[in-house]
Amino acid sequence: MEKYVVIGNPIRHSLSPAMQNRIFQELGMEAEYNSVLIEENAFETEIKKLMDSGIRGFNITTPFKERILPFLDELEPLAADSGAVNTVLRKDDKWYGFNTDGKGYLEGLEEIRPITEKDSILITGAGGASKAIYLALKNHTNARITVANRTANKAVEMTKDNDNHHAMTLQEAEKNLADFTIIIQTTSIGLEASKNTSPISLTNLTKGTICSDIIYNPAETAFLKEAKENGAIIQNGLPMFVNQGALAFEIWTGVKPERTLMKEAVLEQLGGN
Ligand code: ATR
Repeated sequence: MEKYVVIGNPIRHSLSPAMQNRIFQELGMEAEYNSVLIEENAFETEIKKLMDSGIRGFNITTPFKERILPFLDELEPLAADSGAVNTVLRKDDKWYGFNTDGKGYLEGLEEIRPITEKDSILITGAGGASKAIYLALKNHTNARITVANRTANKAVEMTKDNDNHHAMTLQEAEKNLADFTIIIQTTSIGLEASKNTSPISLTNLTKGTICSDIIYNPAETAFLKEAKENGAIIQNGLPMFVNQGALAFEIWTGVKPERTLMKEAVLEQLGGN
């Protein structure tokens, strides 16, 4: 029986086990996927134990995506550039690190329509998820990318490597909203449905703009609600979550999994919303 896990803290509500086990079962593979809580101050000892346990691969979520780096032998370019790893594979007793978040996001976005160089993309937020998405987009398209963040210098830092891309404050982004054809919301502000706040006001939005949020629970954040009211095409974070998991599955097994089944497994856990 091959073993896989996702490590993180917190981890109890992770939907990855349901999603990955559905595919292992469907394909009749002798494998199981569990979640493992690791205490932040015990990370180094616990990760060594896990890597000595005969495990074939694992996912890493918050807050360990950077702390795993010293334990790996090789990083694929996207993981090296972002300095963060969400997928690890053991092969011939070497450990390989990948980051499937950005590519997973991009594949979800292009389910709506292909990005062209005429697009002008706004990303709100400049944390780990934003960086992974920025790098994947930058590798994929010549479209202009603007990053707007509450702490403005993080956005400046992220975009300074490339003249085509630049940073703005959230207030400037709000004012210039009509210029963007795609708006990607990566801040954690919408995670608490009760707060009902969006990082920017969307009143200046042009109808038909794509607005996507990487949050999928709640299924419709305040940002997405406001976007819909202003005539945007909206997408939540479910495709990104499913696609990043599907890409990890393929890295471990060499098999392209059926993504609709993975999505169904997640929706069942979320109560069908
Ligand atoms: P992740 O790995 O999910 O990207 P992160 O690295 O902690 O998480 O990044 C969180 C992002 O949400 C940051 O861009 C953060 O802005 P700051 O850099 O200014 O901290 C943003 N964020 C969190 N709470 C926010 C809020 N209330 N308003 C605006 N932005 C917020």
